[in-house]
Amino acid sequence: MSTTLYQRLGEIDGIARIVDDVIAAHLANPVVKTRFENAKDLGRLRQMACEFFCAGTGGPQAYTGKDMLAAHRGMNISEQEYLAVMDDIIGALGKNQIDEGTKSEVIAVLYSLKDNIIRV
Ligand code: HEM
Repeated sequence: MSTTLYQRLGEIDGIARIVDDVIAAHLANPVVKTRFENAKDLGRLRQMACEFFCAGTGGPQAYTGKDMLAAHRGMNISEQEYLAVMDDIIGALGKNQIDEGTKSEVIAVLYSLKDNIIRV
């Protein structure tokens, strides 16, 4: 039987660990750290990112946050920042022993979001 992306990411507990590692990596990444140091509410961002990944990968949770365009509008996010965020996510997936096929699927989903996030 095939498994969902949600299951292969370790369901809610696995996704929460990945999100924590991604936020820690952003705060240590010189390209984007000030974005996250200045974020209004990192606790909300963490919660919303967990929901977003759970809902978007086939989990039972609902996403209650803003859509990607509304969340990033007016921030003037550059291509370089977008790549830095992708790299942090790829690093966190590797750190959590996510297999290559699953990693590629996540990367494809993230890439498809770029026009709603870069310079919007
Ligand atoms: C790779 C794709 C990305 C995804 C899936 C994503 C996801 C999210 C989500 C779910 C939220 C919360 C929305 C809400 O509060 O309702 C958010 C907010 C935010 N995102 Fe992203 N994001 C991405 C890329 C980026 C990039 C490239 C940057 C800038 C370097 C960025 C910076 C932020 C900041 C600073 C906030 C918080 C805004 C605030 O409340 O102050 N995001 N993002």
